[in-house]
Amino acid sequence: MKILAVDTSCDESCAAIIDTAQWKLLSDVVHSHVDSMKKFGGIVPEIASREHLKGLPLAVHEALEIAQLKASEIDHYVVTNRPGLIGALLVGLSFTKSLAFATEKPFSTLNHIEAHLFSPLLATLNGQEPPPFPWIACVVSGGHTEIFHVHSLFQYTWLGGTLDDAAGEAFDKVGKLLQLSYPAGPKIDKWVRESATEEHRKRYKFPRAKTEAHTLSFSGLKTAVALQVKKTDLSNLDEVLAIAASAQEAILDAVVEKLIQSQKSLGVPTLVLTGGVACNSRLRQKLPQAHFPIPKHCTDNAAMVALLAGYYAKHDKLIPEPWNTTAYPSLDLAELSTLSGQK
Ligand code: KG4
Ligand code: ZN
Repeated sequence: MKILAVDTSCDESCAAIIDTAQWKLLSDVVHSHVDSMKKFGGIVPEIASREHLKGLPLAVHEALEIAQLKASEIDHYVVTNRPGLIGALLVGLSFTKSLAFATEKPFSTLNHIEAHLFSPLLATLNGQEPPPFPWIACVVSGGHTEIFHVHSLFQYTWLGGTLDDAAGEAFDKVGKLLQLSYPAGPKIDKWVRESATEEHRKRYKFPRAKTEAHTLSFSGLKTAVALQVKKTDLSNLDEVLAIAASAQEAILDAVVEKLIQSQKSLGVPTLVLTGGVACNSRLRQKLPQAHFPIPKHCTDNAAMVALLAGYYAKHDKLIPEPWNTTAYPSLDLAELSTLSGQK
């Protein structure tokens, strides 16, 4: 079965095709809107929706071309319809429905966070061994920082997450205060890796919030960085580097500490991280025992959606949905905690 997957939950128009018979990804295309967002210093939902109108047909066309397939040769269409920017999701859902409608093929919707959660299994497409279940898994991105106890495929419990900002959002807000362009996470990572010393990373003791088990908070850190920035001459690049390095250390230490606590309290040896912040080289250094997808599959992509759809299909769970299916902006914790991903 050939499945075409679409993801438009944030500011990347993504399309990918999986062939479940060969268990092979035939294409994996991402059209990023980052350049359009730079001048606004962050994601503007309205702009993201309009960029998807331009970028998604191109991404889907490219995915079909790379796979050397026509739309009529796709057996099933899937799209993430929750959670995410609602305007952005609606563009992806409408486009995917239209493709299914025009080619008289079924379509199904999937949860974007569930797709991130199982993205480490993309390694199996290259014949690699998957991380052994159960996992403590963290989806750590610009929109989410969620911790899960993953028992097996489709079976997982949401344990908790951030009480305010997501870790990626904290990186981006710190970057904005330091006048770095959006998205600041990758820039801070690279700059600190290439130029910072241990002294830079330790110069400022930004707070690591003391919150309940499986929860995180980054609002105090953001305030502490803002106060420090007010006292700092931002033309002094050594000081800017020290603030960036110290803030990165505080964000990552909080994530690492919480995940290790979750592992200990539930007795789970396997740790898995996905989402944009999981690209961070310092985080990977701090958690050498953890499993990370390749960076391309940590940030938003449709390969993870195609893979999840492939698993649903393998287990006879890829149920065609009606034409009046809609999209949902929020993370449905009831779905993630009690339904455990089952439809
Ligand atoms: O998963 P993602 O592409 O989009 C969603 O939010 O769903 O994550 C984007 C976020 C941004 O906040 C970006 O600054 C952050 O991930 N990010 C990083 C790195 N690469 C991306 N943060 C720290 N270090 C990185 N290398
Ligand atoms: Zn995402």
